[in-house]
Amino acid sequence: MQRKKKKELYFYLNGKILKGKELSLSPFDRGFLFGDGVYETLRWYKGKLFKLDLHIERLKKSLASSKINFTAFSERSRILSGDDIEKVVNELVSINKFNNEEHLFVYLQITRGTYFPRQHHFPPTDVQPTFFLSVTPLKRQEEQFRNGIKVILEEDIRWMRCDVKSTMLMANVLARQKALEQNAVEAIFVRSGFITEGTHTSFCAVKKGKLYTPPLSNLILDGVTRKVILEICRRENIPAQETEIKADELKSFDELMLLGTISEVTPVVQINDWKVGNGKPGPVTLRLQRFLSEMIFS
Ligand SMILES: Cc1ncc(COP(=O)(O)O)c(C=O)c1O
Repeated sequence: MQRKKKKELYFYLNGKILKGKELSLSPFDRGFLFGDGVYETLRWYKGKLFKLDLHIERLKKSLASSKINFTAFSERSRILSGDDIEKVVNELVSINKFNNEEHLFVYLQITRGTYFPRQHHFPPTDVQPTFFLSVTPLKRQEEQFRNGIKVILEEDIRWMRCDVKSTMLMANVLARQKALEQNAVEAIFVRSGFITEGTHTSFCAVKKGKLYTPPLSNLILDGVTRKVILEICRRENIPAQETEIKADELKSFDELMLLGTISEVTPVVQINDWKVGNGKPGPVTLRLQRFLSEMIFS
């Protein structure tokens, strides 16, 4: 069988729009050598980036915590105003001939730059950070949104600054792979007996119509979708509380869900061999899913 020829896409790297095969980066880039970088993932729906301001705010915090001095380079730091990100994304949408009906996924990464010889400490201050941005089509997981997913629980062996959106993701990669090998879709991390979050998702549970989610700390990412859902709960008078959730109390909840830029609101209907509630997505989860979709597509 002949493989369908893939459309050749353009990407943005350090100020240039380039074809995939023209992209090149030195192995001395600190992102490659140390995972010494930060990133953001965004969605583009119907010609607009969703909650760009919140993503920029989080990116600035990640850069500050990582002490990556992006703002020292005026050309590149304009990106942090958000206007330049929109400009670059629109340029890629146009050159890649994406249309407004497509769901697009925007990935951006900033590393501490390229420097030889390899050394753990920071490179000289005139070394420019590396900036990469891609816009690619995304298939919405409609079936998972409708029917829910299975997850596994996994010990949270990540570092103590999970609030920083760092590219050091080895623990997340291993946990997600383990989930897939057990016919699950996501792994939920447990630290000292408490639920933190998924490998690329925030976690929420529902009991008697009230939503619970772990509080913000250095142990979880300040998820954009989590923020939006808590805002929707306030608006719609759905009771919500940010509180610790014990892993061994999960069975006392009626509904569980995951939130994220890609996952949106995804019902969790099974953990390992145990079915959540009646094994079907619950009413609060489905309501929140609908409210989020309305917000995205309105
Ligand atoms: C570890 C982790 N938690 C939560 C999330 C969800 O965050 P957001 O809603 O901003 O996509 C992500 C997203 O990538 C993540 O990597």
